[in-house]
Parts: sequence; structure tokens; C-alpha cells
Amino acid sequence: MTFALADWINPRLQQVEQALMQWIDPDAPAALGQAMRYAVLDGGKRLRPLLVMAAAQAVGGDSAGSGQAALRAACAIELIHAYSLVHDDMPCMDNDVLRRGKPTVHVQFGQAQALLVGDALQALAFELITPQGDDVPPPVQAALAGLLARAAGYQGMAGGQAVDLASVGLSLTEAQLRQMHRLKTGALLLCSVQMGAVCAGQPTPLVMQALSRFGEALGLAFQVVDDILDVISDSATLGKTAGKDEAADKPTYVALMGLAPAQTLAKQLHNQALAALNDSGLPLAQTLPLRALADMVIHRNN
Ligand code: IPE
Ligand code: IPE
Ligand code: MG
Ligand code: MG
Ligand code: MG
Repeated sequence: MTFALADWINPRLQQVEQALMQWIDPDAPAALGQAMRYAVLDGGKRLRPLLVMAAAQAVGGDSAGSGQAALRAACAIELIHAYSLVHDDMPCMDNDVLRRGKPTVHVQFGQAQALLVGDALQALAFELITPQGDDVPPPVQAALAGLLARAAGYQGMAGGQAVDLASVGLSLTEAQLRQMHRLKTGALLLCSVQMGAVCAGQPTPLVMQALSRFGEALGLAFQVVDDILDVISDSATLGKTAGKDEAADKPTYVALMGLAPAQTLAKQLHNQALAALNDSGLPLAQTLPLRALADMVIHRNN
């Protein structure tokens, strides 16, 4: 079955961009709104929002992916991701000056403002998925908030970032590295898939488990590829500084096992992700966007 990913992605990207533009208030005090918009708008692949919408479609949600719950969840996860990037780039963390092809937020607006941009984006993410009115039924709001909180916090992204910083200069075992990657990056990707599924209704435990296995494998694959791209790509293509993992003595899959084995691992994880979809029992046609996004994660060049 062929699937034209670009035709699926383009209207959804437009929808997400428009919603983000509308929901991040340019008039937030003391230029915070401008800095928040700088951090989020005009850049990024928007992979996590697309995963939310693709997962909603996989379990039979609105096939246009335009359900209010899915759109809000899609934007919320992107806000958490953007906040994680702003903080990740700060001098106290990775000390990066380039992100999404632009100077990083702290370079442009100062460290205190960058810290506050992250704080405000995180809060706004939860605001988006808990709207007043009828857009999102209260049980769905509660489920989304629980998933997002766990994925962003110490059991997820923030915990993984702590492990990352504590691991500089150490040689981790493969199990330790996998756990670090699962937390710092995998958690938000897994959460994207789970949130999409929750938005589209009440997936059966079997479907939820299969989608979670898909999200876990894809999440780990994503960071393995990020480690690979840091080595084989260049800053202009990446929109962020290439070669910085080795320079900062970060434990990565390339450092641990070498380039070719890391590439093999990414392919294996890709296959695991697709196998999980096969096991889900979901109609093939409904899972095509998820499959195509998984291909994109593995074959991307930025
Ligand atoms: C980069 O994520 C940070 C990691 C989690 C490795 P992305 O590669 O998704 O970054 P954007 O959103 O496209 O800028
Ligand atoms: C970042 O990992 C993960 C998060 C932001 C949570 P990296 O430090 O490898 O991401 P890049 O390479 O700077 O995008
Ligand atoms: Mg980092
Ligand atoms: Mg970094
Ligand atoms: Mg990286």
C-alpha cells in the first residue's frame, strides 16, 4: 500500500503552526512572549505533534487529524520539547549557540529569560490540554495531563537530562546508555503516541501496549540517529552544532559501539517499531502515517 507522506504531513503541519502561533501570546510580559515565540515558531521538524496525530488516526480518530484534543495534545508536547531544547542549550547544560538554524534563546535573550521561557512553555503545555469548555472531555484531559507530566518529569525527560549531565566523561554500559536515551528523548516520543491514542477514544489494552512498544522502539531509535547525525552531518544541515557530543565527551551510541553498529541498531529498532504495529491488530491503512513517520525518523538528515 503506497502512502504519500508529504500530502498527509503538510495540512497537519500548517494546522499545528497556526495553533502554536495563536496560543503563544506575543504580549506576555517583559518580552517573555517574544522569547517564547522565538523558541517555538519557525523551526523544528514537529515530529512529536505529527506522532500525536498519526497515533490518533491509527486508533481510528478523526482521519483528518483535526480533532481539538489531538491538536491541543500535539501543540502541548511540542511546547514541552521546545522548553527542553531551550534549557538543554544553556551554558549550564550543553552550552550551545545554534538551534534550528538560529542563535539559541539564551544567546538572543539572556540566560534568565531563557530559563523563564522554559518555565512558561512547560506551564502553557498543561494549560493547552486542560481547557475550559467542551473541546476536550474531562477524563481525556486528566489522562493527557498524567501522561505528559510523567514523560516530562523525573521519570522521563528531566530525569534523563540529569543522567546525561552526570555521565559526561564516563563510559556507560549499553544498558545504562539505553536507559538514559529512553528517558531524555524516548519518553516524549512515547508520550506523543500514547497521547494521540488517548485523544481518539478508549484504545483497548492490546492496542495501547502495541502502540507503546512502537513508541518505545521509535524513541530510542530517534536518539540513536541523533547521536549518529552529530558525527556524520554538518551544522548547516542540522541547524545545530555538529560534532559536539565528542567534544563534550558525552556518552553516545557512536562512542559506545562505533558508527556502523549504531546504524545497524537504528535499523533493528525501526523493524521492532514496525513489528509492534503489525501486532496491534489495527487496520494497516490506519497505521500508514505512523509507519511513514517511523521511516522518516530513521532516514532523516537533520
Ligand atoms: C532534538 O530533537 C533533540 C533531541 C531530543 C535529540 P529534534 O531533532 O526533534 O529537534 P527539532 O524539534 O526538529 O528541532
Ligand atoms: C537533548 O539531547 C535531549 C533533550 C533536549 C531532552 P541532545 O543534547 O543530544 O540534543 P541536541 O543534540 O542538543 O539537539
Ligand atoms: Mg543534551
Ligand atoms: Mg544538546
Ligand atoms: Mg544530540
